[in-house]
Amino acid sequence: MATLACLSRLPPEATSRLLPRLQTISHVLGRKYQGLCRGREAADPLQKRGRALPVAAWPPVSKKAKHQGHPQSYPVLDGRIPALYQHVFEENLKNSEAVVKRCSELLEAASRGGGERAVLRHCHRTKKLFVRDRLRLLLDHEPFLELSPLAGLNMPYGDVPAAGCLTGIGKICGVWCVFMANDATVKGGTIYPIGVKKQLRAQEIAMQNRLLAVYLVDSGGAFLPLQSELFPDKMHGGRLFYNEALMSAMRIPQVAVVCGSCIAGGAYVPTMAEEVVMIDKISSLFLGGPPLVKAATGEDVSAEDLGGAKLHCQVSGCSDHFAGSEEEAFECLRNVISTLNYEAVPEQGLQHEAPLYSAEELLGLAPQDYCCSLPVKLILSRLLDGSRFQEFKAGYGTTLVTGFGHLEGHLLGVVANNGELSHQAALKGSHFVQLCSQRSIPILFLQNTAPQAPGPRDIPQAEAQSSRLKAQASMMAAVACAAVPKITVVIGGCFGSESYAMCGRSFSPNFLFLWPNARIALVDPRHLSTVPQAGDSDCAGDEAELRQLKEKLEEESSAFYSSARLWDDGVILPQDTRKVVAQCLEITEQQKHQVLSPFQHPVIRM
Ligand code: COA
Repeated sequence: MATLACLSRLPPEATSRLLPRLQTISHVLGRKYQGLCRGREAADPLQKRGRALPVAAWPPVSKKAKHQGHPQSYPVLDGRIPALYQHVFEENLKNSEAVVKRCSELLEAASRGGGERAVLRHCHRTKKLFVRDRLRLLLDHEPFLELSPLAGLNMPYGDVPAAGCLTGIGKICGVWCVFMANDATVKGGTIYPIGVKKQLRAQEIAMQNRLLAVYLVDSGGAFLPLQSELFPDKMHGGRLFYNEALMSAMRIPQVAVVCGSCIAGGAYVPTMAEEVVMIDKISSLFLGGPPLVKAATGEDVSAEDLGGAKLHCQVSGCSDHFAGSEEEAFECLRNVISTLNYEAVPEQGLQHEAPLYSAEELLGLAPQDYCCSLPVKLILSRLLDGSRFQEFKAGYGTTLVTGFGHLEGHLLGVVANNGELSHQAALKGSHFVQLCSQRSIPILFLQNTAPQAPGPRDIPQAEAQSSRLKAQASMMAAVACAAVPKITVVIGGCFGSESYAMCGRSFSPNFLFLWPNARIALVDPRHLSTVPQAGDSDCAGDEAELRQLKEKLEEESSAFYSSARLWDDGVILPQDTRKVVAQCLEITEQQKHQVLSPFQHPVIRM
């Protein structure tokens, strides 16, 4: 305790540097201290002054809870922020406020689609609804989870607001559905490379979580100037149609409303869907529009006659339902969904306690830098029901915290970085992930991985690093093969290879979100002191080269840069984490209510 009191008098920069090591020390001391004073908690002067270390406490357990192994008997985390960490908390808070403000500005800009003029033109000239209003009409009156709203921001080919296509998960008739809705105010809803990536990700989510897919199509097809980045490769535009067939064969229903002009690639999406609604004088569907017909045959033909709702409902059979207006079309779509034989998720939410500590304080716990990371249990105490946590291997590999808790009533396993992923920590992670998989318990990864450590300086260090590598490889294998829903939230850093073991994007978590303070890169530019050189060269590159590299890494490692490129499913505010993760857990659970038929073929249209 004396050591800690002494450290609290150090200047802020020195404490920041020492924090990662401090966390481990405080954890070990905390557990010893707790062991000593269990049962006489109130008598302790440190506890009275609110300076207790953030370790689990054991509240009295009722007889009933003891019998049932009820979550209410899990130990309660002490989430009070020790005075020692106060200045780090303040610095983190300042940084969080700045990045949250930036995040709101970017979200606000993305929500305006192609801009005021384009929206006015869309709504007045073509008498169509703006894409966000369509979703408001279609979805149940509940908040929905929008995915990657910042995708398409500041791309090499310009800004593409929300990648020209809104995707997300919302309830229709009480059933969770993935929606993909083109925004025709962004270059006529044409599909950019980032738009393809966004829709493919939405389809992947539908497949991984067995969610039905709803397409609101209003798209001029490929954005032609970028056709080479859109058309030829495996994961380009054609993959969307391929997936539609596979999803149908997997018994994932797909329904579409044609909400405007759908041309070429835009036309295949509804024609590959299982059931389609078209709208009188608003929808049209063709491979080449009237201008192309004119150029090819010299014939003047209207969009309505060439491929309007009447033609496709009465002649071609490309559409199954005719609607007089957009409102009627969405009503029709809701009726279609009610025939899918999906059981709505039970209405009454699970009973749960709120955390004991304010979620707003997560802003001060979101590290602006790895060195400013505070003990991760402070974060857990603000996320879990009743701040209760049944820790697993509390005294071993303490730089990784593992254990069970509940989030809005859902049981989940937690794997949270609390320092470097050491040999012991990785072995523990591997063990715990397998336990969760064995017990079919979803896993929440809270990722804050350490920036890459420098190379070994001597043989013992090299040996330590290789044994750590082996343990991390075993954790990676456990994570990759765990057959349970996995949700990753990057709360700080996502650096280098440790991020794989913590279920980074390439390890296919069901959902991956970032806090706005998060940094994503192979190396942290702030910890880079030389420019790495190829081969045997000892030359470390000059100052200018180093500065340039740092600037590039700095720009490329921000949460917004990542989200723009769809390396994640979106930036979420720390204080919303509990709500978002609970929503994801509910979404992954829907398949338990699904009625499955043994039919194994896609529905093929006439
Ligand atoms: N590639 C690139 N840009 C396209 C495009 C395409 N396929 N289709 C439309 N655009 C652009 C337009 O040039 C216009 O750009 P601007 O705002 O900078 O002037 C913008 O998208 C809006 O198009 P506009 O025609 O003014 O809007 P609209 O609502 O009246 O019509 C379409 C939208 C999509 C129906 C119409 O533009 C169209 O028929 N486009 C051709 C689609 C096509 O041939 N696709 C084949 C792809 S293989």
